[in-house]
Amino acid sequence: MSFLCFCPDTVEEVTSAETLQISSPETHSDLATRLLEEREPQPPPVTSNLQPQIPFLYSELKRITGNFDDRSPSNGGSRLGEGGFGTVYKGFLNDRLVAVKKLNPVDDMPMDKLQVQFYQEIQTLSVLKHENLVDMLGFSCDEQHLCIVYPLMSNGSLLDRLACLEGSPPLSWQQRCLIAEGTARGLEYLHCSHHVHRDVKSANILLDENFVAKISDFGLTRASANQTSTTMMTERIVGTCAYMAPEALRGEITPKSDVFSFGVVLLEILSGLPPSDDNRESQFLMDVRYEIDDEDENLTLEDFMDKKMKDWQLSHAATIYSLACNCLHDRKNRRPVIKQVQSGKILADILRDDTRVKTAHLKYLVKSNNLEIVLF
Ligand SMILES: Nc1ncnc2c1ncn2[C@@H]1O[C@H](COP(=O)(O)OP(=O)(O)O)[C@@H](O)[C@H]1O
Ligand SMILES: [Mg+2]
Repeated sequence: MSFLCFCPDTVEEVTSAETLQISSPETHSDLATRLLEEREPQPPPVTSNLQPQIPFLYSELKRITGNFDDRSPSNGGSRLGEGGFGTVYKGFLNDRLVAVKKLNPVDDMPMDKLQVQFYQEIQTLSVLKHENLVDMLGFSCDEQHLCIVYPLMSNGSLLDRLACLEGSPPLSWQQRCLIAEGTARGLEYLHCSHHVHRDVKSANILLDENFVAKISDFGLTRASANQTSTTMMTERIVGTCAYMAPEALRGEITPKSDVFSFGVVLLEILSGLPPSDDNRESQFLMDVRYEIDDEDENLTLEDFMDKKMKDWQLSHAATIYSLACNCLHDRKNRRPVIKQVQSGKILADILRDDTRVKTAHLKYLVKSNNLEIVLF
């Protein structure tokens, strides 16, 4: 897959990199617009609240994953998936199934940067606990390889389930609404805890045995240094192009960029389409909304919907599509904050009271910076 990646000065083609990492030139480091210095996370101090029993031996993790067997579990191996920073393997540890992420050194990423991401993820996961966030069981750093251990999410990633990988059945409309709602809940918790995820995407939303959504992959997450300000600047632009808000591409770190990425995830949930496809008229899914909204184009919301699911109604789909479009507003202050998505209860209402929402007229009032949802 190839993505167009944007630097402040350059536009360059990056191939195969799932998640982009761009360091802008030194001259950008003293940006006049810098609001807050990005604090690179440090390895946790000895006094951190990490539990002493958390570390595992690398040799133990190697053993339980069959020496990090790269074949898929259906072929007798243990490889569950791969992201921009690591490969994840299945194993059995202390009477439970686990997933072990082994961080891979990346060509254009020095080991110390990878270590920063490793400590970022374990620091975040040792502090933040929520039903819709993946949990961490431990880590290993006793040899040169860095590993993180999680409970196994038996239904894999939302990306894989939408693509029906390995012959999995299509997700139903109800399951999709619950997954969207769970993801919004997890994000609300993250944002209320003054964290910005920075890589919200369907590959980073995992599904447990009951299809409960768990946000994962906290390597790029940043805690805001100043809890009264929600925006930070960075010279290291990271994220996944197909999900990135305009301000994220300029190096801003704000919870509103997570809301934008959540909007792309909603479009994936509705359509079942991948976030980026070179063979599509609009390569990025986020741009397909212009085709749907343009009366001269033939594409309707109905055409856009995933044909692999049956149990949906156009009025409900239109409500979620409209929410997605609000999240995808180019101007970040016009997007709802995730709390509004939650307190608007759009997703919950669709699930809880099907008939009431069917006959209700949902009216969106976009008042200056605020999205208000009024039910008549
Ligand atoms: N706990 C887990 N259970 C099952 N599959 C997982 C788990 N964690 C990760 N995976 C699979 O591995 C992929 C990459 O994991 P991720 O943590 O996102 O790695 P990276 O940091 O390299 O992006 C995910 O998209 C998913 O398919
Ligand atoms: Mg990932």
